[in-house]
Amino acid sequence: MSETGKKLIVTGSGGQLGRAVKKRMEDRYELVQTDVFEGEAIRKLDITDVDAVTALVREVRPFAVINCAAYTAVDAQEQDVDNSYRINAIGPRNLAIAAEEAGIPLVHISTDYVFAGDKETPYTEFDKTGPISVYGKTKLAGEEFVKEFSRRHFILRTAWLYGDGKNFVKTMLKLAETRDCLSVVDDQIGNPTSADELARAIDHLLPTGSFGTYHATCEGVCSWADFAEEIFRLAGKKVAVEHIDSEEYARRNPQAARRPLFSHLEKMMFRLTGDFRMCDWHEAIERYLA
Ligand SMILES: NC(=O)c1ccc[n+]([C@@H]2O[C@H](COP(=O)([O-])OP(=O)(O)OC[C@H]3O[C@@H](n4cnc5c(N)ncnc54)[C@H](OP(=O)(O)O)[C@@H]3O)[C@@H](O)[C@H]2O)c1
Repeated sequence: MSETGKKLIVTGSGGQLGRAVKKRMEDRYELVQTDVFEGEAIRKLDITDVDAVTALVREVRPFAVINCAAYTAVDAQEQDVDNSYRINAIGPRNLAIAAEEAGIPLVHISTDYVFAGDKETPYTEFDKTGPISVYGKTKLAGEEFVKEFSRRHFILRTAWLYGDGKNFVKTMLKLAETRDCLSVVDDQIGNPTSADELARAIDHLLPTGSFGTYHATCEGVCSWADFAEEIFRLAGKKVAVEHIDSEEYARRNPQAARRPLFSHLEKMMFRLTGDFRMCDWHEAIERYLA
C-alpha cells in the first residue's frame, strides 16, 4: 500500500481541507505541507509569490501539487478586492505555472459561488458561470488561470465545507451554548460537504489521468436552516431555528456578500468518467459529529 518516495506538495495545510488531506494521505505519500505561516511540520509558502512557489516545486520535485490554500472569508473580501484576487487567482496561477514547468498534475479547489444561483435545476460542470460576489469572481479567475497555465489539472468545485477549522457547524454549536433560538437563512439551497469526503475525492482522482473540472460535494441538498436543524438534532441541542430569507439576513448584516440562492451541484463529471460517488450529506455530518 505504501507509496513512499512519492512526494506531494500541499498548500494551505493549516486549513480545513489541508488537515483532511494530511489525515487521509500521510500514510501513503511523503507530504510536504505548506501554508502562509510556518508551523510544526509546516513550511512557509505564500502562494502569491511566484518565485517562492517555483523554487519549492523545483526543490521538492513532487509528483503532484494539491492547492488547499485560499482566502475564504467571503464577506471580508467585498472590501478587500486586491487581496482576494492575489490569493484566489494569482496564487493558483503561480501553482499552475510551476506544476506545468515540472510536468506534474495540479489539484485545485473551487466553489459553488462561481455560479449565480438563479437556475432551477442542478448546475453541471458544463453550465455557464456567473459569480455575484468578490469571492466568487476571484475563485472563477483562479479556475481560468489554472486551465490556462496547467494542462494536467483537476479543478474540484465544492460547497458548504466543514472540517477541522472555522465553519458553519462549529458556529452553530458555539451559539447553541448560549442561545435557545437562532435565525437561519432558509432560501439558500446547497450541498453541505465534509472536508473528509472532499479529501477522498481528491485521493480518488489523483492517480488517474482523468483531468478536468469536477463538482465534488456530498450528495443531497438542503437549506442552511435545514442544515442547522440537523446539526442540533444530532448534537442533542434544544435550539429553535427561526427561518428567515436572504433579504432579511442582508438587512440584519449589511456587510454580507451576496450568495447564490440555488447552488445544487450535480456531479456529472464523476458520472461520465467512472463510478465514484460522494456520500450523502446526512451521513457525512453524522460521522463528523460522532
Ligand atoms: N469553507 C467553505 O465553505 C468552502 C466552500 C466552497 C469552496 N471552498 C474552497 O475549498 C478550499 C479549502 O477551503 P478551507 O475551508 O479548507 O479553507 P481554510 O480553512 O480557510 O484554509 C485555507 C488555508 O489557506 C491559507 N492561506 C491563505 N492565504 C494564503 C497564501 N497567500 N498562501 C498560502 N496559504 C494561504 C490560510 O491561512 P490563514 O488562515 O492564515 O489565512 C488557511 O490555512 C478553498 O479553495 C476554498 O475556496 C471552501
